[in-house]
Amino acid sequence: MRSALYVPGSRPELFDKAMSSRADVVLLDLEDSVPPAAKDRARTAVAAWLSESRASGPRIWVRVNPGSIGEADLAAVAVAGVSAVCLAKTESAAQVHVAGAVLREFEPCPGGIRICPILESASAVLAAREIAAAPRIDRLQLGETDLCAEIGVDPSPDDRELWAVRSQVVLASAAVGIAPPLGPVRTDFGDLEALKVSTMALARMGFRGRACIHPAQVAVVNEVFAPDPADIERARALVARFDAAGGAALDDEGRMVDLAVVRRARRLLANSAQHDGGGASRTGT
Ligand code: COA
Ligand code: MG
Repeated sequence: MRSALYVPGSRPELFDKAMSSRADVVLLDLEDSVPPAAKDRARTAVAAWLSESRASGPRIWVRVNPGSIGEADLAAVAVAGVSAVCLAKTESAAQVHVAGAVLREFEPCPGGIRICPILESASAVLAAREIAAAPRIDRLQLGETDLCAEIGVDPSPDDRELWAVRSQVVLASAAVGIAPPLGPVRTDFGDLEALKVSTMALARMGFRGRACIHPAQVAVVNEVFAPDPADIERARALVARFDAAGGAALDDEGRMVDLAVVRRARRLLANSAQHDGGGASRTGT
């Protein structure tokens, strides 16, 4: 997973455009990009579009509203072709259980639709580990706009005031063994250089993939999260050297290679193999 492109559910004329982008996931939104008066119309438009079958293209996710509107959303979008739903404003693991129960009632293939909770409040971030450990979780996503408003953060250009929060979401995901979290959107979609710099910082911090709001952001985010062939080659050489030595060895720059270093290299190789095999599939997660 490198990129997920949001599309407002109230703008069906953009759905096919989003599908022809290079995003790994097209994320149809029924929540904050859809005004209250348009919720029913957006849900109907998304459900109608989902009922058309598609053999290829990005995977399809849908972001649903919290509460009772969200339950109606889930019932309408629990169809073939949807690989995950994003639960906006998830506050607790209990909410994930409720969403799972609604999905179970409507989805065509039991357990087939995964859940990506979006953490957008102080209490959600503090409950990240319990939420991450709930059933069906694919990965977490961080929603920073609402969070910043609630906790009174006005981020610097490098977002340093959010580093601790971001790390907490990475740690919670790793601690329960789910995929690393999806990075937050960047709203100044005209500044692709700033997007690149901040996406590289997210990647170093342990995020994998980032949510986008504009097609122009997708290429930048894809590039940052694409495995670097030089890193892969280095990892492969390092594992080979370690295996040949039968234990601790030195790399070609004279640094120690022990089991921890090899484990990291093997993880990189496993991720890149997954990446090679996962590109165009719509059914995986
Ligand atoms: N998905 C698919 N196509 C999109 C798109 C999206 N999210 N955003 C823009 N486009 C298309 C436009 O329709 C336009 O197509 P055209 O060249 O055929 O006319 C092209 O990309 C360039 O768009 P541009 O004019 O630069 O942007 P805009 O002013 O039309 O739209 C936004 C800007 C932010 C309103 C729009 O990108 C958007 O709605 N993004 C998603 C917002 C969202 O879902 N938010 C919720 C999550 S935070
Ligand atoms: Mg929001």
